[in-house]
Amino acid sequence: MKTEILTLNTFSVQKAKDILFAGGVIGMPTETVYGLAGIGTMPNAVKKIFEVKGRPSDNPLIAHVHKDYDLNKLVFVEQEYAYKLIKAFMPGPLTLVFKSKGVVCKEATCGGETLAVRMPSHSGCQKLLKAVDMPIVAPSANLSKHTSPVTAEHVYNDLNGKIELILDGGKSSGGIESTVLDVTGSVPRILRAGLITKEMIEEVVGACEIAYHKDGDKVKSPGVKYTHYKPLCETMLFEQSQLDLVEIEYEKAIKQGKVPYVMCTDEVAEKFSDKNLLKLGLTPEQVASNLYDKLLEGEKKADLIIAVAMPDEMGVNMGVMNRLRKSCG
Ligand code: TXA
Ligand code: MG
Repeated sequence: MKTEILTLNTFSVQKAKDILFAGGVIGMPTETVYGLAGIGTMPNAVKKIFEVKGRPSDNPLIAHVHKDYDLNKLVFVEQEYAYKLIKAFMPGPLTLVFKSKGVVCKEATCGGETLAVRMPSHSGCQKLLKAVDMPIVAPSANLSKHTSPVTAEHVYNDLNGKIELILDGGKSSGGIESTVLDVTGSVPRILRAGLITKEMIEEVVGACEIAYHKDGDKVKSPGVKYTHYKPLCETMLFEQSQLDLVEIEYEKAIKQGKVPYVMCTDEVAEKFSDKNLLKLGLTPEQVASNLYDKLLEGEKKADLIIAVAMPDEMGVNMGVMNRLRKSCG
């Protein structure tokens, strides 16, 4: 199969719509990462998504809808506070988990009773969702375990020959996946950290919990238990208090004839100006936005990426550190 990349416009959206309604899957831009999209009421399309990615069959998909879509068609909104969150953060990088009405097929929810729903804010994605006017299920458009894509080219590098079309909507500005929030209980619970932070949620609804889990626990968001986000080169991760170890590992790699790169914030980079660098930016938002892009740039140039952790895990840094640990830890 030949994989075409088309700039997202009226013409390519029509083409995407035709492929989707014929049961096909496509690459779709969002403001977080690119998605591998299929219509959520078509079991065969959903099966294709799992096949193309090589995704474990017990890891459910997020349903994406346009901003005027009536969520009540898909889910039961049982908690009053959920309406406040919808008003405050949708469209945007927040996914809410509700009790499902079963409209989105069981292949997408993996037979579970809940459905994760999100309204992307990316204007091109909205155009596609509006044209289709159906729930589009989409995991990140990478091969399972690999780093998530934030450009059409990244999607192409993973899925060339496996899908017909990738809509190019530019680089995803957010850079890490949406916050996944369980809103079925009396207090919202973060299942996956992201750009909508615990602090932001608390400000709107007062309280917010974080779902921690140990090995062996029955996890509520199955995706978080898998190996994830791995670039195709060696990686290491050090705290900011261990910069001397970064230095040592870097020199060791050079002596072994390897090409090492240090991946860190611009601030930390000032201390390593004589080294190969993958600079992530200054603010936590900039770091989130650049993280996958730099990991994917790094796997092409480096034999070893030595990543330096963020100084704390507050706000957006929680989501960033969650990805850094899985990709480089
Ligand atoms: O930003 C994003 O969320 C991107 C873009 C494409 O929208 N999508 C994405 O999808 O990251 P994926 O499949 O890579 O991750 C979805 C996460 C997984 O951790 C999955 O387990 C969880 O959401 N999830 C999906 N449905 C769920 C449900 N019903 N209950 C709990 N967790 C769910
Ligand atoms: Mg993913």
